[in-house]
Amino acid sequence: MKIGIIGLGVVGLSFASVLSSKGFPVIGMDSDGKKIEQINSKKLPFFEPKLKLFLKNALSKSLEISSDIDKVVRNCDFIFLTVGTPKSKSGYIDLSMLKKASKNIGISLRHTTKKPIIVIKSTVVPNTTTKVIKPLIEKASGKKTGKGFDILTNPEFLRESNVIDDTLKPHLVVIGGIEKNSVNKLKKLYRKLYGPRIKLMTTNTQTAEMIKYANNSFLATKISFINQISLLCQSIPGINIDDIAEGIGVDPRIGRSFLNAGPGYGGSCLPKDLETIIQFSSKFGSNPLLLRAVQQTNDLQIKYIIHLLEKNLGNITNKHITVLGLSFKENSGDIRESRSIELIKILLKKKAKITVHDPKAMKNTEPIFKNQIVYANTLLQSLDNCQCVIIMTPWKIYTKLKNSDFKNMKRKLVIDTRRILSRKNLNVEYFALGLGTN
Ligand SMILES: NC(=O)c1ccc[n+]([C@@H]2O[C@H](COP(=O)([O-])OP(=O)(O)OC[C@H]3O[C@@H](n4cnc5c(N)ncnc54)[C@H](O)[C@@H]3O)[C@@H](O)[C@H]2O)c1
Repeated sequence: MKIGIIGLGVVGLSFASVLSSKGFPVIGMDSDGKKIEQINSKKLPFFEPKLKLFLKNALSKSLEISSDIDKVVRNCDFIFLTVGTPKSKSGYIDLSMLKKASKNIGISLRHTTKKPIIVIKSTVVPNTTTKVIKPLIEKASGKKTGKGFDILTNPEFLRESNVIDDTLKPHLVVIGGIEKNSVNKLKKLYRKLYGPRIKLMTTNTQTAEMIKYANNSFLATKISFINQISLLCQSIPGINIDDIAEGIGVDPRIGRSFLNAGPGYGGSCLPKDLETIIQFSSKFGSNPLLLRAVQQTNDLQIKYIIHLLEKNLGNITNKHITVLGLSFKENSGDIRESRSIELIKILLKKKAKITVHDPKAMKNTEPIFKNQIVYANTLLQSLDNCQCVIIMTPWKIYTKLKNSDFKNMKRKLVIDTRRILSRKNLNVEYFALGLGTN
């Protein structure tokens, strides 16, 4: 049994590496030649803890990396599609990469007797598998589902910065499809990979597709909820949002995760999936009031940071401001929809002078702002002469900041959106989101 994985990004490369390192024969395919070269020379195209080790192990075992989709279709029993489904200009899901990959699979299917099970792992709105992808492959291959190939949905729930652990031990595997034989084959594959302990859930394709959106919408809602409470806490002296999160998080009906107040959610999934499901709801005449409020609440966080900044610095034109953390979360180099990028865009519009620092995301940021901002080589260098530092991403290195590190700031003003320095006795003007000020 051979497994093909099309699209070697965060999801695809992690899945391919884990499967291969567990002994499954895998062909990983991507249309980006540069990425193929990098992976083949054991280099990661993006930063992700633990992945390099698994990739190295996988390449020495059974992982073959290729740019040839024909090879995947001719040899594989399962073909997982893990290509990107980003936001289009209108904010709605862009299926072009998925359509292209599906069409290419269809064309290759024409020339083989192999009957693979095609599994959509990319996030897609309900009905995409059966109403968009299936007809596309049928047309390109001249074959029918059930005869020339089968198609299932299997949404992915991993978290960046934790992809290996999440791929090794997912909280749930959802399989969507009505063709019993194929569903059972995929269940068997996952049982072989995970053993009896991981919960496998089977349903139809459209429900599986919706589970992913409901999941991300709920996570975004939790974040906006705690952020809304945190803004309220801001005006009540002595109040502490982290204690509140702790207090409500132990309630098993609520749970502690995704209750960390901060500058708002970002990343490659929550913002785009929320916008897509809002637009999708509207297409069906349903009014997604709550989800719109979740988005608006998210946007308020950046506005509040700017408000804090201007309240303390006055007009920020030509003021030197340092932004610490560019990635949307710590231990990741991913800046897709990162709040830091949004913040910098607004600060630049207001003509502030920006210096940035991030342990892993500087390279990804340079093409966006080019020479409009300064990229500091070290954390301490980033603080030199600045009039305010804003901590956006809670990288461990920032939690270690101490009094002497701020000594070269022109004005020692610190805005800590994650409260990582709140327990330190710092000789600075200190403002933290979610801590009531006197
Ligand atoms: N990143 C996450 O944390 C995460 C988590 C859960 C689900 N997802 C979903 O999984 C999917 C993949 O996300 P990602 O973050 O891994 O994306 P990504 O952008 O990191 O990677 C996608 C890869 O697909 C390749 N690709 C594009 N078109 C192709 C084609 N026609 N043929 C072959 N390869 C092609 C790209 O070159 C790229 O390497 C998306 O639908 C996303 O919403 C992502």
